[in-house]
Amino acid sequence: MKKLVVLSGAGMSAESGISTFRDAGGLWDKYPVEQVATPEGYQRNPELVLRFYNERRKQLTSVEPNQGHRLLARLEKDYDVTIITQNVDNLHERGGSSHIIHLHGELTKVTSSYAPNDSRYIKELKPEEYEVKIGDLAGDGSQLRPYIVWFGEAVPMIETAASYVSQADILVIIGTSMNVYPAAGLLNYAPVGTQVYLIDPNEVNVQSSRKIEVIRKGASEGVAELLTRLRQ
Ligand code: APR
Repeated sequence: MKKLVVLSGAGMSAESGISTFRDAGGLWDKYPVEQVATPEGYQRNPELVLRFYNERRKQLTSVEPNQGHRLLARLEKDYDVTIITQNVDNLHERGGSSHIIHLHGELTKVTSSYAPNDSRYIKELKPEEYEVKIGDLAGDGSQLRPYIVWFGEAVPMIETAASYVSQADILVIIGTSMNVYPAAGLLNYAPVGTQVYLIDPNEVNVQSSRKIEVIRKGASEGVAELLTRLRQ
C-alpha cells in the first residue's frame, strides 16, 4: 500500500465549529497567545490558563467530526495513512482515523507541571473530569496542567512525524497557515518524488519551491476533491 501522510491544522476542524487561530476573529484575536499558550503565561496566571483549556475541552462535547475527517478515515481502505495533526481536539479520532500523531498535545489529557512529557504523569480525562481546577494534582504532586505544547516548549513528536513524512508517497496538507515551526518545516522532509497536495480555502504562503497541487476548498469539499484526484 502507498503511504499517505496528512499534516492538518486548525482549518481541518473549522467546519466542525472550532475556531482557527489566525483567521479574522480567530482564537488569538480573543485571547492573547502569550497569556494562554506560553509557560510564562501559565506561571503568571495558572487559573486563567486552566479556564481557557477547560472551555476548549468542554467544547469537544458539543462538536462533531466533519465530512473531511470522515473521508480521511475512509482513505485507510486504499492507503497506509498517518495523520500528523497540530490540532489538540479529538476529531480525527472520532472521525475514524486510526493512526494519529498529535504534535501540539491533546485537550483530553493532562500532565504534571514539573515534567509535562513524563509518560507516568500523562492522564486521559473522562468527560466528567473535563474541568481542571487549581489544587488538582498530578502523580508527582505538582499542579495538573493541560497536555498541550505551548509556544517556547519542545515538540517531542516532531522527529517521529518527520520520519513518517520522509517515507511518504503522498503528503496532504490541510487547513494550516504553515506559520508555526517546527510543524511547518515538515514539508521539507518529503522526498522529491512525493506528491504534495494542499487543501485550504485561502491562499497559504508556503516556504518551499516544490510543486504543490493546490485544492482551494474547505476541508470537507477539499478532501472529497482529493479522493477524486487520487482515483484518476
Ligand atoms: N477548511 C480548511 N482550511 C480552512 C478552513 C476550512 N473550512 N477555514 C480556514 N482554513 C484555513 C485558513 O485559511 C488557514 O490557512 O486554516 C488555516 C488556519 O491557520 P491557523 O489559524 O494559523 O492554524 P494552524 O496553522 O493550525 O496553527 C498552527 O499555531 O497557535 C498555534 O498551536 C497552535 O496548532 C496551532 C498552530
